[in-house]
Parts: sequence; structure tokens; C-alpha cells
Amino acid sequence: MKQRLIGNVQVGAIGLGGMPMSIEGRPETERSVRTIHAALDAGVTLIDTADAYHLHADEVGHNETLIAQALASWGGDASGVLVATKGGHLRPGDGSWTVDGSPAHLREAVEGSLKRLGVEAIGLYQFHRPDPKTPYEDSVGTVRDLLDEGKIAMAGISNATVDQIRQAQEILGGRLVSVQNQYSPAFRSSAEELRLCDELGIAFLPWSPLGGITKAGELGTRFAAFGEVAQAHGVSPQQVTLAWMLARSEHIIPIPGASRPESITDSARAPELSLTEEELTRLDQA
Ligand SMILES: NC(=O)c1ccc[n+]([C@@H]2O[C@H](COP(=O)([O-])OP(=O)(O)OC[C@H]3O[C@@H](n4cnc5c(N)ncnc54)[C@H](OP(=O)(O)O)[C@@H]3O)[C@@H](O)[C@H]2O)c1
Repeated sequence: MKQRLIGNVQVGAIGLGGMPMSIEGRPETERSVRTIHAALDAGVTLIDTADAYHLHADEVGHNETLIAQALASWGGDASGVLVATKGGHLRPGDGSWTVDGSPAHLREAVEGSLKRLGVEAIGLYQFHRPDPKTPYEDSVGTVRDLLDEGKIAMAGISNATVDQIRQAQEILGGRLVSVQNQYSPAFRSSAEELRLCDELGIAFLPWSPLGGITKAGELGTRFAAFGEVAQAHGVSPQQVTLAWMLARSEHIIPIPGASRPESITDSARAPELSLTEEELTRLDQA
């Protein structure tokens, strides 16, 4: 697979989002493991997860545990796989998502993620979502301390505004390597953050790049241009979407979610799909 950079680490241009394998509607563990193995077989070397990707209150880190299990049971060499996790979001078990960006929580969360992933340092740790009750500088300052202490190898942020990206870059002393924001044909309002990432040379990881778990299947009908371009190339509208993103910025690394091997195998072909300038312009405007 074509490669892109997160900090100075090379990863495949398409990553795997782990969320559909651990929240509402998740499949049996066996299918999830096959999905992660299919991603690795296809050349995926970035897997996005979070301690909050779980369903019940007593299974924090369900997705991290699953990924560690799948990496360990894969037949190939998984040493080059970057597992990017996050902290600062919580799921109390009633279906809701809450936030806690306090230094005490982030420190505790990192220890849990380290254990579940079975590593001495987390490859990429992302502050999941700003917490209105905690000053942003305190949350990101804790991430900086974790970096200095070697608990995490690289630092990223998620759900950040342009101002927060600049602020985080300053707090981290220029060591911010990634921003993970929502970005898809249906949701383009992170275009400003993407532009800033391009300017600063920071990786931009679009979350829900296909419109989210429940809407991803309708992409080609909700956005007819994506369906038509897909038909012209004999590929899926989802693959066209990912190829369009990759063509629009050298710093974009989409992380499509999957809970079936076929989904990620198809998505992983996107870096090979070449779209014409005319098609790209059409998709920009769709
Ligand atoms: N930072 C944040 O706040 C945040 C928020 C949301 C998500 N995320 C991250 O972003 C990742 C991606 O977002 P998402 O999972 O919410 O939504 P998504 O990637 O837009 O859509 C995921 C769904 O797309 C389907 N799919 C994937 N590739 C496909 C293909 N080639 N053809 C047809 N269908 C395909 C999958 O179906 P199957 O399940 O049937 O395989 C999957 O359930 C998450 O997994 C998570 O890691 C982060």
C-alpha cells in the first residue's frame, strides 16, 4: 500500500477504525479478529482505537483488547503496526458518551491502555475530545508530560478547532503529529482544520470518513456523484470517497471503520484508485 507519514512514522495511506467492532451493533469477536487480520493482510499499518470503544460500563478498552488479541494471533510481522488510541472520553454504559479531560483521568487512562495493548509506550496517543470542565492547556499539558515521560511515543488531538490545533502545537513544543476530526462527503466543516494541518505538515485523520456506521452504506445514493464516479470505475462509492480524500491532501490518512473483512479489504484499495481532475472537482462540489 502507498505510504503516508504520522510524525516520522510511515503508515499505509488507509487505516482501520476499530469503533464498529466494539460499540452498539458489534459482531462476534471471531468476525472482528478476521476483520483486523484482513486489514493487516491488505497492508494496513495504522489502527485507530480508544479506551471508550466499548458498550458496557465494565468493559472499558474492549476495542484495545481486541486489537491486541488480533495483532498477537496474526500470522505476519505486526511490529510495524501503529496502534493509535485515545483518552478523555468515557461510556458509563447507558449508551451515552461523557468526557473527562482532567490530568488525573488522562494519567489513569494511559496506564489502562498501556496494559491492554501490552506495550511499554503507546505509539500514538490522542486527546479524544475537549472537556469544558478542564482547561484545554491542562489536558494537552498532561499529554505533553506523558510524552516527556516516554509513556507515549507520539501525541495527537481529536475534535479540535483551528485555535486548539495552534494551542496544542505550542503546548507540545511543536510535537503535535496528528489531528483527528470528522470529515466526509456529508460533513466538510473541518476543511479549515485540514488546511491548517496541510500548512503545519501534520497528519489529518478524518473520522467517520464514509458518513458513520449507520450511513456508510448509503453513500452512493445520498451523494449521487460519488455513486456515478464509482460506477464509471467499477468500484464502490466508499472506495471513491477515500481516493478523493487521499487526492486532496498529502496529509490525509482516512481511518474507515469496519466490522467485516470485505469492507476494509475494499477500502484498502483506495490508494490505487486514480481519479481525474474533472472527477475530483465534481466530488468537491457534490
Ligand atoms: N475521534 C472521534 O471522536 C471519533 C468519532 C467517531 C469515529 N472515530 C474513529 O473513526 C473511525 C471511522 O468512523 P466510523 O467507524 O464511525 O464510520 P465510517 O468509517 O464512516 O463508517 C464505518 C462503516 O462503513 C462501512 N464500510 C467501511 N468500508 C466500506 C466499504 N469499502 N464499502 C462499504 N462499506 C464500508 C463499515 O461497514 P461494516 O461494519 O459492515 O464493515 C463500517 O461499519 C471509527 O471506527 C473510529 O476509529 C473517531
